[in-house]
Amino acid sequence: MVTPAPYSPGLEGVVAGPTAISSVEDGLRYRGYAVGDLCTRATFDEVAYLLIHGELPKAKELQGFAERVAMARRLPEPVKQLFPAMPKWSVPLDLLRTAVSALAHFDQDAADNSHEANVRKAERLLAQMPVIIADQHRVNAGLQPIAARQDLNHSANFLWMLRGVEPTAEDVKALDVSLILYAEHEFNASTFAARVIVSTLSDLHAAVVGAIGALKGPLHGGANEKVMDVLKSAGGPGTAEAWTHAALARKERIMGFGHRVYKSGDVRAAILKDYCVARAVTPELRDWETTAEIIEGIMASQKGMYPNLDWPAGRLYHAMDLEIPLYTPMFAMSRIAGWAAHVIEQLDNNRLIRPRALYTGAPARDVVPLADRG
Ligand code: ACO
Repeated sequence: MVTPAPYSPGLEGVVAGPTAISSVEDGLRYRGYAVGDLCTRATFDEVAYLLIHGELPKAKELQGFAERVAMARRLPEPVKQLFPAMPKWSVPLDLLRTAVSALAHFDQDAADNSHEANVRKAERLLAQMPVIIADQHRVNAGLQPIAARQDLNHSANFLWMLRGVEPTAEDVKALDVSLILYAEHEFNASTFAARVIVSTLSDLHAAVVGAIGALKGPLHGGANEKVMDVLKSAGGPGTAEAWTHAALARKERIMGFGHRVYKSGDVRAAILKDYCVARAVTPELRDWETTAEIIEGIMASQKGMYPNLDWPAGRLYHAMDLEIPLYTPMFAMSRIAGWAAHVIEQLDNNRLIRPRALYTGAPARDVVPLADRG
């Protein structure tokens, strides 16, 4: 038997495999490109292409990709019928999980694990996930779904499908930057879950369903939905300081702070914060930003802890008038690019992921027959 490596709680610091998709050693880089550079010089569509296909697209490649994705922005009728059939209280992220699972039945490549089929499925899911999120959101609000537009990019089309009005350039850019920052992050919990699933030679849809399940928790993607709860509980600039001290004294976790990998700050949070500040154009939004600043100051000085990406993302989406239950699904409609890239990478060079456990149970003992157990 192979001698196990030393145990690290939460697998902290454990290198669980190689990847050529992203690195966190020198700020976050996707295939060598710094995320800040990508936010300035590329769109989410280009970044999704980079992650799924391996290189930034040339103009013609981007055009072909955008056309394929735009054409795939529709759902089979039975998947659409799921939304009105579900209880009103269904959580949007759970509906996304269910709908992605249902989509597998309609995808003719579903069981094909070749590189080419996985790329085709990745592009389709990239196109379909925003449709699921927007359609179910509107149906739940008693509104008619709005057909996707083929002339808009990922971010603009999503805002169009949600609202049915032409999105502003500022909204599209802010959303696009947030989606670029959410797109990929090496072996985070949901991506690792996806890799574990396909390492058994399961398939992309199954991996994405599992990844959505892992993303849901508030220690991972669910945190962006909790950020406004934190700010509302803090009450505003006048009460934020006392509230934060009291919450820390109660040993509460302040959602949107801390990170397993980044102990001195998350570069993504710093990038997106500028968009929150620019967006804070009303006294109420400026108050949320001031409240956030106060909490950040106390977290840094008292806990040596800094915001992660969810901290500005929750505020930005709120400032854009997007409803809170959309935030984690929006994370998913970006991270699908990273999940798919990892599934493709795993299957291109697969070995079953099967670690060992540190046994902490009862010592070896004999089975006492039922009649003698008292
Ligand atoms: N607020 C207050 N205290 C915290 C926070 C926080 N946000 N995060 C960690 N701590 C404390 C813990 O209570 C613990 O204290 P203790 O040693 O006194 O028990 C200590 O810091 C270490 O915590 P761990 O959970 O062991 O740290 P880990 O590196 O495993 O956790 C995590 C990382 C899960 C992100 C954590 O910081 C957290 O729970 N943050 C809040 C949730 C969140 O924002 N998640 C989003 C992650 S980023 C993303 O998905 C884009």
